[in-house]
Amino acid sequence: MNTVLLMLSLIATAQGLRCMTCENARSHEDCDSQGVMRECLENELSCAIEERKVNYGPGRLIFKHCKQPLACNNNYIQNDRPAWWPIQCNDKFPNSVCRCCCFEDECNIGHERCFGKAAAISCGNQEVVRGGITTCSDGNRFRSKCDFQCQAPAQIYPPDSSSSVCLEDGSWSKPAPCCANPCPSLVVVDLVIILDSSSSVGEAGWQTLLSFTRSLLSLYTLGNNSVEVAVVRYNAEVDTDNIIPLDNGFNRDELFAAISSLPYDGSGTRTGNAINFTREFILENGHGHREFAHDLVVVLTDGRSQDDVAVPSRLLRERGVMTYAIGIRPDQAPDNFDIRNDLLNIAGSEDHFFVVEDGFSRLNADFAEEITREICSDPCGLTPHL
Ligand SMILES: *[C@@H]1O[C@H](CO)[C@@H](O)[C@H](O)[C@H]1NC(C)=O
Ligand SMILES: *[C@@H]1O[C@H](CO)[C@@H](O)[C@H](O)[C@H]1NC(C)=O
Repeated sequence: MNTVLLMLSLIATAQGLRCMTCENARSHEDCDSQGVMRECLENELSCAIEERKVNYGPGRLIFKHCKQPLACNNNYIQNDRPAWWPIQCNDKFPNSVCRCCCFEDECNIGHERCFGKAAAISCGNQEVVRGGITTCSDGNRFRSKCDFQCQAPAQIYPPDSSSSVCLEDGSWSKPAPCCANPCPSLVVVDLVIILDSSSSVGEAGWQTLLSFTRSLLSLYTLGNNSVEVAVVRYNAEVDTDNIIPLDNGFNRDELFAAISSLPYDGSGTRTGNAINFTREFILENGHGHREFAHDLVVVLTDGRSQDDVAVPSRLLRERGVMTYAIGIRPDQAPDNFDIRNDLLNIAGSEDHFFVVEDGFSRLNADFAEEITREICSDPCGLTPHL
């Protein structure tokens, strides 16, 4: 029995907050020098100070202890409530009681660290980025409820976080939301699509790549306030005669027509070279690249690259570009055919690359929606730069 009790008390105090404890001390100095530093129980997550004034004159009695945060806060908010004389915590009259709470080890030594600051439970300021309006019922204090609003077309993300409450443990009930344009429809990005036009793709495969590109783009609103599109065709070389740059000036129909008439020919697969070209030309200022927009590069290829893709892709990401890779595994591919390594190097992370099995047939509108869901999985990360 004794052993069990001992073990329980060891567990309860293993990581407890440490607070100064004393009763009826004449001053903070007396309390701090003669009191006992105690490890609090598991649920006592705050240290408290109580100052009681019992007579006229400067004297007062000091109590310090561990306390549950909710109880401590309930005491604290009584400080400036009316008592029999102006407020409960006042410097001038007997029967005054002042209490405060703090939340770090040994924080109730002295009084500055408790009474000196606003010591109620507080959660840190709630801010919603970009055009958002935050209204909180009681600032960042315990139980304060903040409501968030965004200016259209921006919306609150995550969608279920239009309000948040400051909890007892000093955290908000929801992570701070952001205001972001709905994605895909109005997201603000410079989107570059890099198309592998090597001999293995074949004429039919090429037509599928082009119609997939149109399916993908049809999910987005095109224009200066949303998505600008560039398309790069490559094999051993980049087809610089048929580039669609970001500042193409096309409306939707013209853009789709330009994509449809991209020629198919050539051999070789120098994907790294095409990615470098994208960094050095397409995304260079002066070719329609918008500083305020996020950059997104999607590479579609059906084969292993003949040059290095890791360095060119890393250089893109170092500039803040989000990289995606879609690899089409040919229908009759030998078992040892594996482009995952290239795709991972291009994309930079597992969730940014897709392997399409069974050849080009799966590159359809459903798949365009699937990768768009991934691209749009974090609308907050796609809010325009200031
Ligand atoms: C695109 O939008 C930016 C920022 O709103 C603006 O400065 C620029 O003039 C616009 N460009 C065109 C071509 O409308
Ligand atoms: C891409 O550009 C970088 C930087 O100029 C260069 O080091 C690298 O060799 C290039 N890679 C390819 C495949 O062209």
